[in-house]
Amino acid sequence: MIEQQHLPVLLEESVHALIVDPNGIYVDGTFGRGGHSRAILARLGDAGRLIGIDRDPEAVAAGDALSRTDRRFSMLSGRFGSISELLSRIQVRGDLCGLLLDLGVSSPQLDTAERGFSFSSEGPLDLRMDPTRGESAAQWLARASEAEIAQVLRDFGEERFARRIARNIVAERGDSPLTTTTQLAALVARSVSTREPGKHPATRTFQALRIRINDELDEIRDCLRQSCDLLAHTGRLVVISFHSLEDRIVKRFMRAEALGPVLPKGLPVTAEESRGRLHVLGKPVRASAAEVASNPRARSAIMRVAERLP
Ligand SMILES: C[S@@+](CC[C@H](N)C(=O)[O-])C[C@H]1O[C@@H](n2cnc3c(N)ncnc32)[C@H](O)[C@@H]1O
Repeated sequence: MIEQQHLPVLLEESVHALIVDPNGIYVDGTFGRGGHSRAILARLGDAGRLIGIDRDPEAVAAGDALSRTDRRFSMLSGRFGSISELLSRIQVRGDLCGLLLDLGVSSPQLDTAERGFSFSSEGPLDLRMDPTRGESAAQWLARASEAEIAQVLRDFGEERFARRIARNIVAERGDSPLTTTTQLAALVARSVSTREPGKHPATRTFQALRIRINDELDEIRDCLRQSCDLLAHTGRLVVISFHSLEDRIVKRFMRAEALGPVLPKGLPVTAEESRGRLHVLGKPVRASAAEVASNPRARSAIMRVAERLP
């Protein structure tokens, strides 16, 4: 079998921003095929430690294989939204020198038709990162109300034709269930009246369904909320986002944590109690023209970095 690869995005920039101590403990919360993890391990010393997390069983298998060849690496199967609980299983309760999140889906997920992430190749309408749990997109579309479908397409896909697409989904499923990616892609193409240049008409619908099915935005919020308690003083939080909904959550979180708690005026608090827990480092970083030319996925990537304050 040919091993499926994923070209890591902003590799140099993210690993450089992440590593503050070559002998510290780090977490790669989105292991994928381990592109970032391997680059981190290449820079860690003998006493350094890296923990990979992924919810996709195929990514976990790739991580397990790496853990057999490098004793500094361990792989955990699960959602990064439960990061504290996952880490506590291996007795890691804090003191992380860095946490990396490279959000979204991996190339093997997109390129394997049976996973149902791609509207351009025929496959079951699944879209789960962990196909062993929860509801597939086909199951959700079979039971959701027209209003719920429209809301998901609007909120998570910023789709102008959300209502029309939802109406057509509900009409079509009355005749026969929607079970394949190409069936849905064709329905969306029939439903939208204007095309965005260079974009398949179903792009927004598939993004919206993927976010809904995998609860992606709450996962990010949950993980970020736990990150400050897990990071050691000067530890780094490095997040690479691929669309504005993800990036907005990261940006707002880092800003809020940099400002500190909002306290009523005149409250007797110490300077320490009113101080933020993070310091935002530099400006958001985008991929260079050369990287975008060799990896089109990098086009929409945006990386934000923050440091844990004492
Ligand atoms: C863009 S890929 C990461 C690629 C990786 N950096 C590499 O170089 O191979 C994102 C990965 O994160 C995983 N993922 C996304 N959301 C997750 C979550 N909430 N919990 C755990 N893993 C998640 C996906 O299954 C996918 O494998």
